[in-house]
Amino acid sequence: MRITDTSDLWWRTAVIYCLDVETFLDWGGDGTGDFAGLAQRIDYLAEVGVTCLWLMPFYPTPDRDDGYDIVDFYGVDPRLGTLGDFVEVMRTARDRGMRVIVDLVVNHTSDRHPWFRSARSSPNSRYRDWYVWRDEPGEDMELVFPDKEESVWTYDERARQYYLHRFYRHQPDLNVENPDVRDEIAKIVGFWLELGVSGFRVDAVPFLIEAESAAQDVPDRHEHLRDLRAFLGRRSGEAILLGEVNLERDEQVRFFGGDAGDEMHMLFDFIAMQRLYLSLARQDAAPIAEAILDRPPIARASQWATFVRNHDELTLDKLSDEERQEVFEAFGPDPEMQVFGRGLRRRLPTMLDGDPRRIRMVYSLLFSLPGTPVLFYGEEIGMGENLEAEGRYAVRTPMQWTASRNGGFSDAAPSKLPGPVVEGGFGPEHVNVESQRRDPASLLSFMTLLVQRYRECPELGWGDFELLDQPNPAVLAHRVRWDDAAIVALHNLAPEPCTVPLTLGPCEAGTDLVDLLCDGVSPIDERGHAEVTLEGFGFRWLRPVSPTSRRLR
Ligand code: NOJ
Repeated sequence: MRITDTSDLWWRTAVIYCLDVETFLDWGGDGTGDFAGLAQRIDYLAEVGVTCLWLMPFYPTPDRDDGYDIVDFYGVDPRLGTLGDFVEVMRTARDRGMRVIVDLVVNHTSDRHPWFRSARSSPNSRYRDWYVWRDEPGEDMELVFPDKEESVWTYDERARQYYLHRFYRHQPDLNVENPDVRDEIAKIVGFWLELGVSGFRVDAVPFLIEAESAAQDVPDRHEHLRDLRAFLGRRSGEAILLGEVNLERDEQVRFFGGDAGDEMHMLFDFIAMQRLYLSLARQDAAPIAEAILDRPPIARASQWATFVRNHDELTLDKLSDEERQEVFEAFGPDPEMQVFGRGLRRRLPTMLDGDPRRIRMVYSLLFSLPGTPVLFYGEEIGMGENLEAEGRYAVRTPMQWTASRNGGFSDAAPSKLPGPVVEGGFGPEHVNVESQRRDPASLLSFMTLLVQRYRECPELGWGDFELLDQPNPAVLAHRVRWDDAAIVALHNLAPEPCTVPLTLGPCEAGTDLVDLLCDGVSPIDERGHAEVTLEGFGFRWLRPVSPTSRRLR
């Protein structure tokens, strides 16, 4: 591998940070986060080592699904600023070496979008066929939000027909079979690329291309994704599509575009995320190890996006009922901590009772697994949730900058904020950026170190996962290798300290296992045997360094 490959295929070793402008920093003082506030915090993000921002929807919206209900794909919601403010952020981010990707939400629009208003007003509207209409309710499809909706078909009095909506009824699905809709999607993509974005987090990809009925004789719908990818590539050589595709492994392969790798550049690894929680609940490394081993091979320019938390419910839908129950019991036993019958509305630190050893161990694991880590704002300081907030908003509380009122997020009255600030032990008095920045022992300092080491070890983004044989079921021992570089990572999921015997294969005399996260060197003999100790919930990143190696120790 040439070192320039890591900049050409930048997304394979990126550190992505997801934030919602609305909840990040309110600079204008009206209670709502804004682009002017984000611009002020680009330096902070650069200091943490973030290389790519993922901005959640910031487009004009009635805000009935936190901005995932859009009325204008070409603008900025006035509450958050102007297009000019967006460009200021782009400019500042670029100067600090940070790319920006934005949410592309084109499975549906808001029902207040002018296209839908026109579509429902007359069968002759040029936008009528931009949505999916039926005289009778169509196929009964699985509900994404079973707490709020009873069907994916809703009768519209004005249109006198039923329309399809895979999400809330106020989010009518666009009809991607219509070439005009596909042209419009391309135009939206082209618009934001011209403003400098480096790609898109693509919302709800399977729904975007799904056939309404499996029986329908439809052409290969993946062609839409291939077309979109090709268009993107023509407009920008560095832009990526990061897909939200929470499907089984065999289906995921198709969304990468199989061997050709010509659809999504990246997919979130929802399966590994879910199995990670099962591993944590059981204190058994097997579920997460199996999930990584089970990843299908992907093309050179494709990549897995790894994460432990996102902005939605922490979905456990790919676990069996019994497994899900185990995770619920371990990390969210109260019904109010659960949502949609399939997920949790808590953040990691509260689920782990704030235990710093365990929290760090999980992030160490995240950064040491092959893939590109994606952080959700506030994870770097260990923010918790506020269960008083409705549904998924529990984990979308204002960013905690300082110990002062509103956590330094805004000067406005608390009633003006987009949602309540976290209270109690994980509230801003105890968890905030300002105090952690000054504390070398803080989670923030630790995360900054992890990011730095991850970036220095491109094998973590490029290499192959290998499970290392050792006798302790609570320990995940793995190696990631690429070219002559390798990392051996050990994670103890249990509270008992242990010694891990490892066999790493023949190595040059005098090779050491050098700790990358702290000071330390373990000897390794010529047959590659080593014994490594781990604290309870301990972890180590070890780099085999031979006397002739030029890698940094
Ligand atoms: C997936 C997004 O992650 C979620 O937050 C949203 O509600 C749905 N798509 C609908 O856009």
